[in-house]
Amino acid sequence: MNNTVILSEEKGKDDQKTAFKEEVFNGLSKSPKSLPSKFFYDDQGSQIFSDITNLDEYYPTKCEYNIFANHKESIISKIPAYGKINIIELGAGDGQKTKVLLEEILKSKRDVEYIPIDISSFAIKSLLDDLKQNFPELKTFGVVGEYSPGLKWVREHKKGRNLVLFLGSNLGNFPQDQATLFLKEIRNALNLDDFLFIGLDLKKDISVLLKAYNDSKGLTSQFNLNLLERMNRELSSNFNLESFKHFGTYDPIKGTMESYLISTKNQKVLFKEDDRTFFFRAHEPIHTEYSWKYTPQESVELSEKCQFGVVDHFTDSKRYFLNALWKAL
Ligand code: AVI
Repeated sequence: MNNTVILSEEKGKDDQKTAFKEEVFNGLSKSPKSLPSKFFYDDQGSQIFSDITNLDEYYPTKCEYNIFANHKESIISKIPAYGKINIIELGAGDGQKTKVLLEEILKSKRDVEYIPIDISSFAIKSLLDDLKQNFPELKTFGVVGEYSPGLKWVREHKKGRNLVLFLGSNLGNFPQDQATLFLKEIRNALNLDDFLFIGLDLKKDISVLLKAYNDSKGLTSQFNLNLLERMNRELSSNFNLESFKHFGTYDPIKGTMESYLISTKNQKVLFKEDDRTFFFRAHEPIHTEYSWKYTPQESVELSEKCQFGVVDHFTDSKRYFLNALWKAL
């Protein structure tokens, strides 16, 4: 790949397994028990999440798509029209939504380069191949590595103003202190007057949230239980999926959806390879996910805390989702 730089590669299979096991043993030894939500996304989990995004009840992906489709001209018009612009995407996935913005910015005949950053060289290659097919006129360059070293590399090696995209409501899955740290790290890797365009899921009627995270087809339950299956597959544990139940609830004080797996009985689970046993009491929870919800005012406060200023807010017609354009101060 001559239009890609590799700063650091995804860990090898053995290292990934060691890291997974360490965090699992650590999380299951805590009281209350917890497992980090980043482990949802093995091949099966990613496929289930992709199916969730197609559910009527799960609104965020569709709302963000609508925001782009309805406000693309206005979003792009906020970025000064002179000079080169690097559009840098953190964790781009298949880039479906981003294509709406790329198409719009290409229409304006601006000097633009699209630079996705991802730890998976496979993800970068697939995305760049796809863009070559669909937008042959678009300049692209892939960065394989962690987000902030990737951003620093772009700042040092690519001329122009930077517009960083962090889409979806991925920020919401970070515990709150880590979300702030992450945003500060992004800010430190940017130049004054660069932009961050970020997706934030908005606070709304709680019944809408509860339906989105407890869908009628049971996909969210499958998504959550897949974490137990993943441990059985990769770490030789013997979780019985029948004796854990998905529980998705909203904490109105914190402002977050929370997912748990609840043990339905007293039981023990053995990790055979390591000869480690964990005990679960009847009704005992394992916390598996936060999904923070924000208000537009909280976007303003968060931006200020992390040395950004709000340029504009874009929402869908139901005001379920917010894409905030922040400028580095
Ligand atoms: C990936 N992330 C933004 C999703 C969310 O809404 O927090 C993951 C998810 N969890 C349950 N449903 C979807």
